[in-house]
Amino acid sequence: MIEKRIKINNLNISNRVVMPPMCMYSAGDDGIATDFHVLHYTTRAIGGVGLLIQEATAVEPEGRITVNDLGIWDDGQIENLKSIVDHVHQYGTKMGIQLAHAGRKAQLPKAYAPSRIAYEGYEMPTEMTKDDIHRVIHKFKLAARRARLAGYDLVEVHAAHGYLINEFLSPLSNKRTDEYKDGTLFLEQVLKAVREEWPIEKPLCVRVTAEEYMDEGLHPHDLARIINRVKGLGVDLVDVSSGGNYKVTIKLFSGYQLGFAETIRKETGLPVIGGGLIEDIDTAEAAIHSGKCDMVYLGRLLLRDPYFVINQMDVEYPKPYIRGKKKT
Ligand SMILES: Cc1cc2nc3c(=O)[nH]c(=O)nc-3n(C[C@H](O)[C@H](O)[C@H](O)COP(=O)(O)O)c2cc1C
Repeated sequence: MIEKRIKINNLNISNRVVMPPMCMYSAGDDGIATDFHVLHYTTRAIGGVGLLIQEATAVEPEGRITVNDLGIWDDGQIENLKSIVDHVHQYGTKMGIQLAHAGRKAQLPKAYAPSRIAYEGYEMPTEMTKDDIHRVIHKFKLAARRARLAGYDLVEVHAAHGYLINEFLSPLSNKRTDEYKDGTLFLEQVLKAVREEWPIEKPLCVRVTAEEYMDEGLHPHDLARIINRVKGLGVDLVDVSSGGNYKVTIKLFSGYQLGFAETIRKETGLPVIGGGLIEDIDTAEAAIHSGKCDMVYLGRLLLRDPYFVINQMDVEYPKPYIRGKKKT
């Protein structure tokens, strides 16, 4: 049985299951959250998930993947985001938000990137000037302020899956010759800016692509080194994923990214969220018991089964549903 509770920074989380960020592409082109988002997240809160991390939410309109992404670039977006948070909190679940910029993977008229290198099959991006870089860093800061005002419990900076920050970090996509050829500098400045608005007692998480599945790309030790360089800025948690910056075929199996999580955990000393194709409670519990990770994310599983946690784990069953609880 998993030691259920966990405290990250000052945040008490009732169990170690995380719903990772998953884009729903269901906002209007104003980026404002809709009733769907309230229902979608609240359903998983009723379903007993310890921590929900809201889907990639764009810090500027050009940072969206599609025009239907959620946004947090305008004060007018705060009210509906707050409604998601307030509903989720009613069921004792903690609510995080992933702050994101799509970089060269934005499928919009203009896409920004550290260098003029397109993601396979995508349009050629615009190489960012230093002014562009400083603008985006500032947008992350403003987004963190809005996340605070909306009442989120955790901010996750999206540095994975081939989106903007990952593009800076990776030698596959960053061929700059100025100081930002050191891609960690960009991550560092984003985290510093976020921390200026994100209260120090609230957890700050970074999502990373720990393995790019290319010899010349990033590997878990590289990411551990990067995290060790920035963790002093107030990083409390690392959410370990892989891939996305280069089109490759990944060998998938249950828990396929847990080994990467274990390396990051060992080499940084920080708690990590791990996962990848976890389909059953035994694998989830074993991931934590074996010390590979501190929390487990269940993505697609929670899309199809929002009540997985209440049905598979020893957690409080929602009172109105007790008559439906399976007898053991
Ligand atoms: C529909 C969908 C949307 C996703 N959107 C995001 C996202 O917004 N941000 C992110 O970091 N990962 C995203 N992911 C990746 C998931 O967070 C997760 O890492 C991945 O699905 C592997 O976990 P799983 O095998 O338990 O589903 C998405 C995955 C799915 C299936």
